[in-house]
Amino acid sequence: MVDANPGLGFKILAREDFSDVTYSLVIRHPLMAKAARPGQFVIAMTHESGERVPLTIADFDRTKGTVTLVVQAVGKSTKEMQQICQVGTSLYGLVGPMGVPSPLAGKKKVVCVGGGLGVAPIFPQARGFKENGAYVIGILGFRTKKLIFWEDKFRACCDELILCTDDGSAGMKGFVSDGIKLAIEGHRDIDEVVAIGPPIMMKACAETTRPHAIKTIVSLNPIMVDGTGMCGGCRVKIGNQIKFACVDGPDFDGHKVDFNDLMMRLKRYAEEEKAALDRWSENCRMMQRAAPVLKGDEAADSALPLPDPFDGVLGG
Ligand SMILES: Cc1cc2nc3c(=O)[nH]c(=O)nc-3n(C[C@H](O)[C@H](O)[C@H](O)COP(=O)(O)OP(=O)(O)OC[C@H]3O[C@@H](n4cnc5c(N)ncnc54)[C@H](O)[C@@H]3O)c2cc1C
Ligand code: FES
Repeated sequence: MVDANPGLGFKILAREDFSDVTYSLVIRHPLMAKAARPGQFVIAMTHESGERVPLTIADFDRTKGTVTLVVQAVGKSTKEMQQICQVGTSLYGLVGPMGVPSPLAGKKKVVCVGGGLGVAPIFPQARGFKENGAYVIGILGFRTKKLIFWEDKFRACCDELILCTDDGSAGMKGFVSDGIKLAIEGHRDIDEVVAIGPPIMMKACAETTRPHAIKTIVSLNPIMVDGTGMCGGCRVKIGNQIKFACVDGPDFDGHKVDFNDLMMRLKRYAEEEKAALDRWSENCRMMQRAAPVLKGDEAADSALPLPDPFDGVLGG
């Protein structure tokens, strides 16, 4: 196992692979664990020349001094992270906690909705609402049964849990918006719905609650670069206002978000992202082909830091 940042960085203490593309990393960072609040995110760098990747703090444990990230490998940087970030190695950089913490106090009944990967970032909010005395209804949506993760964590902090799968292989067959309809039918006194997932899912959730005038908060994930309000990359349209998701969010009123603008902006660099992934995949293929079969001491020597195969491929 080769650590891209030996002696430096933030140690990865545990990892769990939920599927071929989704994995969690438990990272030692006592200060971050102490400061983290539900709804906040970090910017992670895998190695010195790695891209800055915004990731939501999916869990934190102040006693153990750890934060947990759940990542979906969708492109060059998150796939690279999937390959490099093994237990015992370290992340080069971890900045945060960033963003405005979600307000959790003063709610009597809330619905926490997570779709796919969004199940992870909604978890600290569901737990936080419960700790603040609210009645919590969790709604989790997955495409199919084998992609389900963290059901036990939600069962531990939710008063009710509605599990939805697109194909009906577990829980109710349907989308999380169907789960919301069910929750509204059963409870006429919901104070707030919080939904996290792909923009199209959050849009559907907001449209489901709009006729019932239930306050609906969504967590936006526009492209971020610095995460400090300087670059303007994360501009989002909220009603007739322009906001920066990194410093004004990432939580916003779902009934005011211009989701079409968000989805259009997320696709803006699709060509460059594909080119970066192709270059990285080709580099990995060449490295694999060039690697000799090592025996004994040679194999031990191979644990020395490798030359950076990503040199000059810094885009994402
Ligand atoms: C506040 C916030 C929290 C997030 N939390 C998580 C999380 O907990 N787990 C997770 O897996 N992902 C999360 N994301 C999305 C994650 O940052 C992107 O998937 C990642 O940056 C993609 O990089 P890539 O090089 O692997 O893929 P690329 O091929 O570069 O991009 C794939 C897609 O990811 C999006 N993306 C690319 N670069 C960025 C960027 N710098 N910032 C935001 N989106 C980008 C774009 O839609 C792009 O089309 C979050 C994003 C934001 C803004
Ligand atoms: S990421 Fe640059 S302004 Fe928000």
